[in-house]
Amino acid sequence: MSFRRRLPVFTALLVFSAAASFAKSGENQEPDPIYRFRSYLRIKTAHPNPDYAAAVNHLASYAATIPALRTRTLYLTSPEKPLLLVTWPGSDPSLPAILLNSHLDSVPAEPSKWTHDPFGGHVSEDDGKIFGRGAQDDKSIGMQYLEAIRNLIADSDYAPARTVHVSYVPDEEIGGSDGMGEFARSEEFGKLNVGFVLDEFRVFYADRSPWNLVIRAVGLPGHGSTMHDHSAVENLMKSVEVIMKFRENSFDLVKAGLAASSEVVSVNPVFLKAGMIMSEAVGGFVMNVQPSEAEAGFDIRMPPMADPEVMRKRIADEWAPSWRNMSYQITEKGPLRDASGRPLMTATDDTNPWWSLFEGGVASAGGKLGKPEILPSTTDARFVRQLGIPCLGFSPMKNTPILLHDHDEFLKEDVYLEGIRVYQHIIRWLSADYGQGRTAEKEGPICNYSLLGG
Ligand SMILES: *[C@@H]1O[C@H](CO)[C@@H](O)[C@H](O)[C@H]1NC(C)=O
Ligand SMILES: *[C@@H]1O[C@H](CO)[C@@H](O)[C@H](O)[C@H]1NC(C)=O
Repeated sequence: MSFRRRLPVFTALLVFSAAASFAKSGENQEPDPIYRFRSYLRIKTAHPNPDYAAAVNHLASYAATIPALRTRTLYLTSPEKPLLLVTWPGSDPSLPAILLNSHLDSVPAEPSKWTHDPFGGHVSEDDGKIFGRGAQDDKSIGMQYLEAIRNLIADSDYAPARTVHVSYVPDEEIGGSDGMGEFARSEEFGKLNVGFVLDEFRVFYADRSPWNLVIRAVGLPGHGSTMHDHSAVENLMKSVEVIMKFRENSFDLVKAGLAASSEVVSVNPVFLKAGMIMSEAVGGFVMNVQPSEAEAGFDIRMPPMADPEVMRKRIADEWAPSWRNMSYQITEKGPLRDASGRPLMTATDDTNPWWSLFEGGVASAGGKLGKPEILPSTTDARFVRQLGIPCLGFSPMKNTPILLHDHDEFLKEDVYLEGIRVYQHIIRWLSADYGQGRTAEKEGPICNYSLLGG
């Protein structure tokens, strides 16, 4: 009873319509979608001073040219942080809506390290590479959503049963709390009745939750010449050894191919701090005193199947035991469980009808999905998964080296245009009415949190 078998209808239809709309209108004229994408790349939305107003203006102006779309700008935290919401109303408002999300901001770029101006919207004549900060992360998908909707309306007169919302949120690259975080908590978001969300990147069904761990040791101070037990540095180093052994075990699983690196708990030391500072002394440190305090910091990433209780206990009992005169502080940057206590992950099998529709849409566009992954870091997706709403991270970037946050970030013209076509299929599959009132959520549970890869 999969949706794929039942819904082969759209395939032929869409292939032709997509090809037609990208025909070049003149010899030296680039297709409009490329022009619009490059214009978006030229808007400097990189931190620390993202020009959100210009980006919102660019997107809203284009959305205004597409009949049937409504736009709204929300200011959930401050006038400097707008959130653009574009809505394509469905014919059946009782159905849960889908939300296509992208972020307005990008990380900074160092122009001197780039071959082309990161904010110039440069296209290479020979290979069609479009360079720009945000070309992959994630101005491409933001424009592709709108282009796909435009094509569905212009080329096939398609009208969705389910409402499609497209959101452009600020601040994803700096944690998202004033962006998607605030949006997900807002009354507006509740009113949208969102059933399913697509966000950025390959195919990701979960994020890892960052924990910052700082362990501190105290111990007997003393002259640098005496050997005594339980100095602060000795106590700290015992803990560091235990932690590094844990790290080695996780890493061995990955090296042996038994787990993806994002499926294990990663632990990496990020700072070590001890010693008495005195500027005249060697290296700035006093050399003949053993300090009475020492500290170390670790970046920990918790995959959704990890048990936070077990981890907290391990830290308290083994990594920073009080009997060794250790103390610790854990800063959990986000929960590992949703509002109902389920792991923060979206099922990627037939138990999740949204998954089946998503996969069906990609297949009908002639695409093939990679193995769904856990994102090693975090995106805005976590804010909606926390509400118990299924969310997949996705970017249609075929045969493209991943250059997120890197120098010379680019996307090729043909890959960009192909991505628009893929979204046309996905949006259509997700938003259609399949007759006799059949839609995704009436077929079964919207989300099944079976522990994939657990
Ligand atoms: C912990 O501190 C107490 C009090 O200073 C000391 O007696 C004890 O030896 C210390 N233990 C360790 C393992 O450092
Ligand atoms: C979720 O999936 C599991 C495993 O496939 C299945 O046993 C369970 O019944 C499903 N839950 C629901 C609510 O359908």
